[in-house]
Amino acid sequence: MMSDPKSGNGGNTGNVGTAALACPDHGGPAAKAIEVDHIVKKYGDFTAVDGICFSVADGEIFGLLGPNGAGKSTLIRMMTTLIPITAGHARISGHDVAREPDKVRRVIGVIPQALTSDLDLTVEENLNIYAKLYDVPGHERKQAIDELLQIVDLTKWRGAQTKALSGGMRRRLEIARGLVHSPTIFFLDEPTTGLDPVSRVAVWEMLTNIRSHRQLTILLTTHYMDEADRLCDRIAIVDHGRLVALDTPVALKSSVPGSTVIEVQFENSPADWEQRLHGLGEVTSVQSEGAAMYRVLTSEGTRTTTELVEMSVRSGVRIRSLTVQNTTLDDVFVHYTGRQLRDELVKPLGFVMPPRPGMQP
Ligand SMILES: Nc1ncnc2c1ncn2[C@@H]1O[C@H](COP(=O)(O)OP(=O)(O)OP(=O)(O)O)[C@@H](O)[C@H]1O
Ligand SMILES: [Mg+2]
Repeated sequence: MMSDPKSGNGGNTGNVGTAALACPDHGGPAAKAIEVDHIVKKYGDFTAVDGICFSVADGEIFGLLGPNGAGKSTLIRMMTTLIPITAGHARISGHDVAREPDKVRRVIGVIPQALTSDLDLTVEENLNIYAKLYDVPGHERKQAIDELLQIVDLTKWRGAQTKALSGGMRRRLEIARGLVHSPTIFFLDEPTTGLDPVSRVAVWEMLTNIRSHRQLTILLTTHYMDEADRLCDRIAIVDHGRLVALDTPVALKSSVPGSTVIEVQFENSPADWEQRLHGLGEVTSVQSEGAAMYRVLTSEGTRTTTELVEMSVRSGVRIRSLTVQNTTLDDVFVHYTGRQLRDELVKPLGFVMPPRPGMQP
């Protein structure tokens, strides 16, 4: 239990920083690549996206961060014309998604959550097909593909069959494929889910590199805190179809009361221990993680740590481990949603094999 949960955060209407959650000023000076205005998606009686508003400036890397089922993919599908919007509006590069879907499709690149490149084609063939599909003129195609293969570091694999590639390489191929028609707005749904740590970092570097060389706005979804922190200029935290916070990673972290997290595990702690931890100097919240492990947020790391150790010695409670660190986006997530994101991460890569004909259900 978190002893100091954020209560009554006002749904989708604003509580963090300058990037207000109330509907943004669409007529403002900064050019807006993406504007989402009280957007809603209902599946029957179930509301998957519940009146979300945000806008993304030209050239920004914007992250939608949230656990499984938060509504991230549904938001992307609506913004990219793949599913109808139940209520509200989305404008991409000034074009209304519902009224001008073709204009929207011309300016966007989309990498869906599931891997979708054709396994029986070579890397180059996969890119070529998309270039043709998007009417990239013949004389520009080769140069565009050469350039993209270089950016995603697959030049020497251009003739390889896609099924021979690792997951990370396939993801990079899909990033190249999504850019083959030179879109100005790039949507990536969980670009690194299921990748090993080295491949994840490679994808981050590639996206940062692409953004610095092209005029490109990037909207990505993720449930990795470190990914959002490292890559995104601003982050929108989405939970149960609602926007609960939106700001830069730095501003989000500083919006959480307490600047330091003490993670401590005890060997034997009495029943009232959580309450006593909360009574230590400058503590803003105490969260029990089970197995006598606690996350203690404080605005005075040194003082609270000293008092915590003294209290444990006095009470004969042994400390098994203790770490002190700055607040992270994990703490931001807990603060705004009342629970941990990492509890909900158990999920395979978003690809489901279709059943084979004749197979028993
Ligand atoms: N076609 C559909 N019909 C009914 N419910 C749906 C449909 N698509 C999604 N949902 C539900 O809408 C909610 C949001 O789903 P969505 O796929 O957008 O979540 P997500 O944030 O992308 O999650 P994940 O991290 O698992 O990809 C979930 O509860 C999901 O079960
Ligand atoms: Mg999804």
